[in-house]
Amino acid sequence: SAAEKDGYASFMLKEIAEQPKAVADTLLGRIDPSGSLTLDELRITPADLRQIDKVVIVACGTAFHAGLIAKYAIEHWTRIPCEVELASEFRYRDPILGGRSLVIAISQSGETMDTLMALRHAREQGSKVLAICNTNGSTIPRESDAVLYTHAGPEVAVASTKAFLTQLVACYLVALYLCQVRGTKWGDEIQAVIKDLSKISEEVERVLETMEPVRALARTLAGKDTVLFLGRHVGYPVALEGALKLKELAYMHAEGFAAGELKHGPIALVEEDMPVVVVVPSPRNRSLLHDKIVSNIQEIRARGARTIVIAEEGDEAVVPYADHLIRIPATPTLLQPVVATVPLQVFACELAAARGNEVDQPRNLAKSVTVE
Ligand code: AGP
Repeated sequence: SAAEKDGYASFMLKEIAEQPKAVADTLLGRIDPSGSLTLDELRITPADLRQIDKVVIVACGTAFHAGLIAKYAIEHWTRIPCEVELASEFRYRDPILGGRSLVIAISQSGETMDTLMALRHAREQGSKVLAICNTNGSTIPRESDAVLYTHAGPEVAVASTKAFLTQLVACYLVALYLCQVRGTKWGDEIQAVIKDLSKISEEVERVLETMEPVRALARTLAGKDTVLFLGRHVGYPVALEGALKLKELAYMHAEGFAAGELKHGPIALVEEDMPVVVVVPSPRNRSLLHDKIVSNIQEIRARGARTIVIAEEGDEAVVPYADHLIRIPATPTLLQPVVATVPLQVFACELAAARGNEVDQPRNLAKSVTVE
C-alpha cells in the first residue's frame, strides 16, 4: 500500500533512501571508539580464524557482486587468498576445500537455493561457513557455522539496493576483523579505513542529496537499446551491478566490463551516441589506474560514446571527456563502491519508471529464488 511506501512512488525508491540508515545500523556496535572491532556474534573463535588459509565467497546476483568487491578488500588487507564464485556453479566443479577454508555465503533473503546448496557442499568438505545475511533465522544462517547479520531491515523491492550496501559493509567488517585477530597489517592504513568506514553512511546521504541530475539524465535515455558500464579494480563489480540493475528493471541490454578489457573485444560494441557509464577510481592512491581509465574514456568517446562519468569530487582530469559528470565523495579506494553504486541504482530505477515498467516487481523475477 501507499502507506507502507512512506510516500515514495515505489519500495525501491524508499529502500534507496533508507541506505544511510541501513549502513549505519549494520556498523552499529561493531566498531568501538578506539577503532577496534567487536564481532562476538561471529561464533568462529579467533583461534580458528587464525588457522584460515583461504576464503571462498559464494553468492548469486547482486550478493555475488558484493563478494567480488570483498575479494579486493580481503586480499589487500588480510593477505589471505580469496576466491569468489557464483553459488550455482560452485559444487558442480569439485572445488578444493578443507578445514582451513572459510566459506562466506552472502544472501539477503537467506533462502536462495543455489547459495544454500553451495554452503552444504562446503560443510560436507569440512569447511567452516560464515553467512552474511539480512533475514533473521532464515535457512542459510541456520545451516551455517556462524552469521553476521546485515541490518538493512526488510527489503521488499525485487531489485536489491540497501541489502547490497550493507553486504559490502559486512564484508569490510569481516576483512578488518580477520586483520585484527590475525595481527595483519594493523597499521595506519587499516585505522584510517575504519575511521572512514564509520563515517560512510553520511557520505551515502550526501550522494542521495545530489541525485536529481541523474534522474533527469536517466529519463532522457529511456528510448535507448543498450547501455554499457565500465570500471576497474573495485569499480568493475560496481559496473556489473549497474548493468544488472538496468537489465532487471529497465529490460535493456546492459553490460558491465572491466575497462582494461575494452580493447580485447567490447569496444566494437560502441556506436554513435551509445551511453557508456564509467566508474572512475580515486585519482589519489592508485593514480596509474586512474590515468588508464581516463584514456579508456577518451577512447570510447572518440568512437562516439556518450560518456556518463562517475568520479570523485575534485577529480578534474575527467572533466574534458565527460558528457555527463556525476560526482561522488572521496573515499578510500576499497570503500568507493558504497558511494559509487548509489547513482547507478537511482539511474536504473528512474529509467525503468520512464519506460513505464513496474520497478518493484520486474517481469519474470522473484525476490528470493528458492529453486536451483
Ligand atoms: C538483485 O537485484 C537481484 N534481484 C538478485 O540478483 C539477488 O541479489 C539474488 O537472487 C540473490 O538473492 P539473495 O541475496 O536473497 O540470496
